Amino acid sequence: MEVFEKADTVSKFIDKLKAEGKKIGFVPTMGALHRGHLSLIEAARKDNDIVVASIFVNPTQFNNPNDLKNYPRNLDRDLKLLEDNNCDLVFTPSVLEIYPDENSKKSEYHFGKIVEVMEGKFRPGHFDGVANVVSRLFKIIKPDNAYFGQKDFQQYILIKTLADKYLSDLHIQVHRCPIIREKDGLAMSSRNVLLNPEQRKSSALIAKTLFWAKDNYQKYTVDELKKQIADKINADKNLKIEYIEFVSDPELDEISNWDSEQKIVACIAVQVGDVRLIDNIYLSLS
Ligand code: PAF
Repeated sequence: MEVFEKADTVSKFIDKLKAEGKKIGFVPTMGALHRGHLSLIEAARKDNDIVVASIFVNPTQFNNPNDLKNYPRNLDRDLKLLEDNNCDLVFTPSVLEIYPDENSKKSEYHFGKIVEVMEGKFRPGHFDGVANVVSRLFKIIKPDNAYFGQKDFQQYILIKTLADKYLSDLHIQVHRCPIIREKDGLAMSSRNVLLNPEQRKSSALIAKTLFWAKDNYQKYTVDELKKQIADKINADKNLKIEYIEFVSDPELDEISNWDSEQKIVACIAVQVGDVRLIDNIYLSLS
């Protein structure tokens, strides 16, 4: 497995592979890898000749400085995991490599409604940071395919829009891969390692409540179901719900009744002590 720190060098190396007709699959990450990331590497392995991952804790997408400070980092472990899972090439840039000056930290993209709801509403500036860094990484790696997890459903919609609307000349196919869960249902997340044992145990209630909502949503109105979910989550003293929203996929339109013909996704954010977790589930696929 090759490891590159410089954008120029990795770009040139990949250009050569592309000139040889090799198909490039790309999995951008912020490290602290878990089985969710490895499922993206596996998907990339199936569709491509060369699998590239990046590890970069992107400062511009953290709206909370403590979250950035506490974000788990373990490069040696991550590199070993990638090597053991047949990744061919890893890009591990420094902050200066991605953002050479203050100006480069500003996003030039406008996404309208899709960044105004849910994560966009509760984490101001977060999606500007995501769009900016993914755009920079896409321009450096120029992959044929890129892979993202459904756990970050809204992020997937944003990146698909970025690739199709703003970076269409790069011809990148953006793929979404299913949520990978722990045995008790908790969605895999790099932040799970920050939970203490009691918080970790409580956090299983998030997925359990979403599974319950999927089985029971038609018995309630939209507002009643929101209240039921919030009451169930907040009944645990370690959990505090930030939002529960029902939105359409891919438009992210707020659902006001269940009669719609749309695919409906229930999206949730929960504060567990200092750790913020998100999850989602399809209520209806029609
Ligand atoms: O999902 C993530 O890990 C990050 O938001 C991403 C896409 C790597 C951008 O920093």
